[in-house]
Amino acid sequence: MLGSANLNVMVKAARTAARKLVRDFREVENLQVSVKGAGDFVTRADTAAEATIREILTTERPNYGWLGEESEEERGKDPTRRWIVDPLDGTTNFLHGQPHWAVSIALEHKGEIVAGVIFDAAKDELFVAEKGAGAFMNDQRIRVSGRRRLIECAFATGLPFGGRSDLPLTLKDLGRVMPAVAGVRSTGSAALDLAHVAAGRFDGYWERRIHAWDVAAGLLMVREAGGFVEPLAGDDVFGSRTVVAANGNVFAALADLVRQG
Ligand code: IPD
Repeated sequence: MLGSANLNVMVKAARTAARKLVRDFREVENLQVSVKGAGDFVTRADTAAEATIREILTTERPNYGWLGEESEEERGKDPTRRWIVDPLDGTTNFLHGQPHWAVSIALEHKGEIVAGVIFDAAKDELFVAEKGAGAFMNDQRIRVSGRRRLIECAFATGLPFGGRSDLPLTLKDLGRVMPAVAGVRSTGSAALDLAHVAAGRFDGYWERRIHAWDVAAGLLMVREAGGFVEPLAGDDVFGSRTVVAANGNVFAALADLVRQG
């Protein structure tokens, strides 16, 4: 597929940062056996990846604003456009040597996500989407699944780490959703969960307490693959930091279940 100039810049930034992350990931696998673990090393890898992406994107588009997980937010000279970036989504997986993490880059224009790139470097899967142009994985068009019955569906969700205040609500969500469906998975990467909903590998996804950088690119991916996305509460995903996404056949049923919480 032919992407816009902006999409090409985003892909270049994601691939460049991922090359170094792949080398760092091999090192992390070696560090698993050390007593100190790989914590500081991963923090440095994450920060360095964001610096690489920021350098490429701001060199190519100096007027755009910036919102990234690891560095300071900046309003651009063009206040209508900003990059929303998670250089390493799935940090806990990366730290534990699990090959399930991704670089996620989104472009927002006038409050709407218009382009998204999610690169799963460990599996060499590049997901891209642009508003109105569809969603693709390694140049193949992707679409959400067609399942209609909840009991046949597999859903993804984020399980809060110890101490996060949304843990009780999430446990209640699981109590309602699990008996009604074929399976619930927590993969540790919200960006990839959404990319996999877009690719029909999951039938839907929900999470409380998400950040814009975790889901910005993925939300567009699901919409462009024919799926539905809404906040679980309020009227704005980023503001309420809650989201539910699914194929159109089961969206209402999943949203009803999780909104009972
Ligand atoms: C996390 C992952 C995880 C989700 C968390 C996120 P990070 O992002 O996306 O799947 O459940 O809410 O914070 O910390 O790995 O960039």
